[in-house]
Amino acid sequence: MKLPLILVNFKLYEQATGERALKLAKIHEKIAEETGASIAIAVNALDLQKVSESVNLPVFSQHVDPVGFGSYTGRIMPYAVKGLGAYGTLLNHAEYPVEYETLRETVERSREAGLFVIVCADTAEQAEKVASFNPDLVAVEPPELIGGDISVSKAEPEIVENAVRLVGENRVLVGAGVKSAEDVKIALSLGAAGVLLASGITKAEDPYYALLDLVSGLK
Ligand code: G3P
Repeated sequence: MKLPLILVNFKLYEQATGERALKLAKIHEKIAEETGASIAIAVNALDLQKVSESVNLPVFSQHVDPVGFGSYTGRIMPYAVKGLGAYGTLLNHAEYPVEYETLRETVERSREAGLFVIVCADTAEQAEKVASFNPDLVAVEPPELIGGDISVSKAEPEIVENAVRLVGENRVLVGAGVKSAEDVKIALSLGAAGVLLASGITKAEDPYYALLDLVSGLK
């Protein structure tokens, strides 16, 4: 996947599930095509198949479990997610944290299934720890800034710098409160490989223009 990347997590926002997930995904596809920017989306598992069949974008699952075929009930299997057309998966999001051992196993199973793996972390130190599980990228998000109006780029630039120093160039996305081209620019200037965001797009009055603005920050 091309870097720098803008990854938009649809979460379970009403504006970003079911038919509306599809509509929002199409907006992302249009902007990716018009601008050449690297844009990906993370949708809930129930919308995954429909969305991945309908848009030409890397589509991520928001979570998977460390299970293969067998006697498991209600879990999300990496192979199944891959089979539905997913490009990758997020893991250990602040809204769905996982124990380290479980996380290590889930990264392994996800990679075996052919998924691109992005593991989230709350701090630069946690980012370093989870990077040792060998995901493709690590996404650092200070939980207290998630869903807010002040971006990690502006409020805690040292987290970005530290995470990049500890994990390495081209391996760190940053997120929480990212809403503008300036937020994206700052994140990249601090060494991030892209941004992970949600409400800046899902709750925007006009997601098309909100995303277009973010993309302009990639230059
Ligand atoms: O997964 C992205 C997310 O946790 C950040 O959310 O709304 O602060 O962009 P938001």
